[in-house]
Amino acid sequence: MGELSTISTGVGIMAKLLFEAPELWRRLRDNPQLVDAFTDEVLRSHAPLMSNRRVATRDIEIAGVRIPEGERVTVMWASANRDESVFGDPDDIRLDRDPRLNLVYGAGIHGCPGAPPARLELRVLIEELILRVQRFVPIANEPPVRAFFPGSGFSNLLLIIW
Ligand code: HEM
Repeated sequence: MGELSTISTGVGIMAKLLFEAPELWRRLRDNPQLVDAFTDEVLRSHAPLMSNRRVATRDIEIAGVRIPEGERVTVMWASANRDESVFGDPDDIRLDRDPRLNLVYGAGIHGCPGAPPARLELRVLIEELILRVQRFVPIANEPPVRAFFPGSGFSNLLLIIW
């Protein structure tokens, strides 16, 4: 998935959450220093980038599953970021989680090199919305339509900003 689509997918995911959780929008407007924690946490709960692929460089066993060298593996970021044993209720949007647990930008040597500009773009967007938008209202009879794997987010999301 290209970097442009991860950003635009992420914007849709955040917008959907903001009309579902108006109290969170009020909290952000009162505490703009929470914006970075907010964008990372929302995209933890609903990943813009679902997965990447790897080829095992050696035999290994992970969680009781033997993976032979040369095997193709799919790394499901979306699933890892919703692991109940790490995050409890993965739908619970909490702005005080340990940022080291968040895998929205991957991890290790192939971790997203675009994470700093991605966070910057999302922060500027939310800061500009804070200046202009009181609340987000979904359009009746036009429910959000989820995108299909390997896409993520919404293929259709109509809302009014107030
Ligand atoms: C919300 C936005 C974004 C998300 C959620 C995201 C997420 C990710 C993830 C999970 C990976 C995979 C890491 C891995 O396989 O270990 C990745 C890789 C990558 N991302 Fe992003 N990304 C975003 C925005 C961007 C932007 C804005 C750029 C460029 C400016 C970018 C450039 C890249 C590149 C080049 C890679 C491949 C790195 C490699 O294979 O070594 N990403 N991204």
